[in-house]
Amino acid sequence: MGNGVAIVATGIGKTFSMGKQTVTALRDVSLSVPVGTLTALTGPSGSGKSTLLHLIAGLERVDSGDLNVLGHQVHRCSPAELAALRLREIGFVHQDFSLLADLTMVENVRLPLEAVGTPRGEATKAASEAMARVGLKELEQRFPAEVSGGQQQRAAIARAIVGNRTLVLADEPTGSLDSRTGSEIMDVLGRLRDDGVTVVLSTHNPANLSHADHVAVLHDGALVSFDAAEGDVA
Ligand SMILES: Nc1ncnc2c1ncn2[C@@H]1O[C@H](COP(=O)(O)OP(=O)(O)O)[C@@H](O)[C@H]1O
Ligand SMILES: [Mg+2]
Repeated sequence: MGNGVAIVATGIGKTFSMGKQTVTALRDVSLSVPVGTLTALTGPSGSGKSTLLHLIAGLERVDSGDLNVLGHQVHRCSPAELAALRLREIGFVHQDFSLLADLTMVENVRLPLEAVGTPRGEATKAASEAMARVGLKELEQRFPAEVSGGQQQRAAIARAIVGNRTLVLADEPTGSLDSRTGSEIMDVLGRLRDDGVTVVLSTHNPANLSHADHVAVLHDGALVSFDAAEGDVA
């Protein structure tokens, strides 16, 4: 078990309005994610998994409740503070990898550092280190179209941890991969967790849940269970 808590949500809610319709995407969700653990969010399509990840990432704002991420009270942060948190402290991994096709793998991985003004040489060195951590040492100069889907997703994970960021949010990271490759990606995320990275991912593949320390089940925007696998989390 890591020391400290990475995320504390207390009664958070989120509603979207589309014209006259409103959709409650999350209702009264409370959970606590310890540092250095892998938490899987699961539940049917539309249950609120992506919304919860977007709130934690500061991509959307909570409508109610308190949300603390890495010591920041994100429900009170200004847009600029949220942008800084997202850029500097949080990595986000998408189902479709979201690599830029015109950049090499290492150029993609170093982008978040360049975005915050890290000198190019230093950014490239950090990107190489991140790529080595996810098993991509030999593929730095390839373009995304020249590698497999699993390798592209590893690059997206490297981009999420570059510069030693310690919180990785992954929305259906295995959703576009075959089951064996998906399992390898879960192993990569599990090794990062072993190194102290906090990982929160969404999945509707039950096979992925065996990799998780904690499983949060959502249904219609409500947290219906939060299983502390070792019986050690409040
Ligand atoms: N930007 C949005 N605008 C309107 N409704 C949204 C938006 N994002 C999510 N929703 C709605 O919120 C609910 C939860 O969606 P989502 O978090 O994407 O679920 P999941 O990731 O579990 O499939 C769904 O009813 C969805 O249609
Ligand atoms: Mg989703």
